[in-house]
Amino acid sequence: MRAHQIDRPADLDVVRESYDRVADNYAHMVATTGMGDIRRHPWLKASIDAFADTVSELGPVLDVGCGPGTVTAYLAERGLDVSGVDLSPRMIENARRLHPECRFSVSSATDLDLGEASLGGVLGWWSLFNLPRDVLPQVLALFARALKPGGHFITGTHVGDEDALRTEAYGGVPVRWTTHKWQPEQFVDLIEQAGLRPVAEVRLPPNEHSGPSVVVMAERPA
Ligand SMILES: C[S@@+](CC[C@H](N)C(=O)[O-])C[C@H]1O[C@@H](n2cnc3c(N)ncnc32)[C@H](O)[C@@H]1O
Repeated sequence: MRAHQIDRPADLDVVRESYDRVADNYAHMVATTGMGDIRRHPWLKASIDAFADTVSELGPVLDVGCGPGTVTAYLAERGLDVSGVDLSPRMIENARRLHPECRFSVSSATDLDLGEASLGGVLGWWSLFNLPRDVLPQVLALFARALKPGGHFITGTHVGDEDALRTEAYGGVPVRWTTHKWQPEQFVDLIEQAGLRPVAEVRLPPNEHSGPSVVVMAERPA
């Protein structure tokens, strides 16, 4: 019995099938275009490096919505005790193929069974925007509880006001998911309401791959 029961998003199966369909193209685009590759984006890399420096001695790190495992593998290379989890089995197949040295598993962020104060760090790296607006706070509360005091959460997401229905993605593959965009202030408020203390915020303008976005890092107070 899990300590926290989180509402299951009504469209979870459709979202999973959609990411399964785009998983191979997504992994290919990360490798060939630099999309999603932090090494090619200095401010994203700097944010992940700051996170890694902060949590390196704090215990296990979980990359939630890890996709093909690019960031998971980067953190593992930096010596962190990190594993990745993703809703899409096909994303995880790609992650295991590309990074056989890392640990990956399949689960929705809404189904995770995380022990209290068991993690030094959690990532929700461009992977929480499909969660309905009333479900995201529940997932953030789960993360806050799972972090050790002093543990850190880092997240990046799309900025805006819309619930944008996406019908094709990553090379014209048919998908069906909603991108729930957030204004940075609202997003930071939610993180604070979950019991975390924001420590840094990086706002990024649109680029060739996406609209404006924001990265937030927050800690569980000691
Ligand atoms: C845009 S990709 C980002 C992947 C990876 N974090 C990266 O930066 O390359 C979004 C990922 O979030 C995953 N995802 C979406 N909803 C999820 C959920 N409820 N639980 C876990 N993963 C989810 C998708 O399967 C997909 O792999």
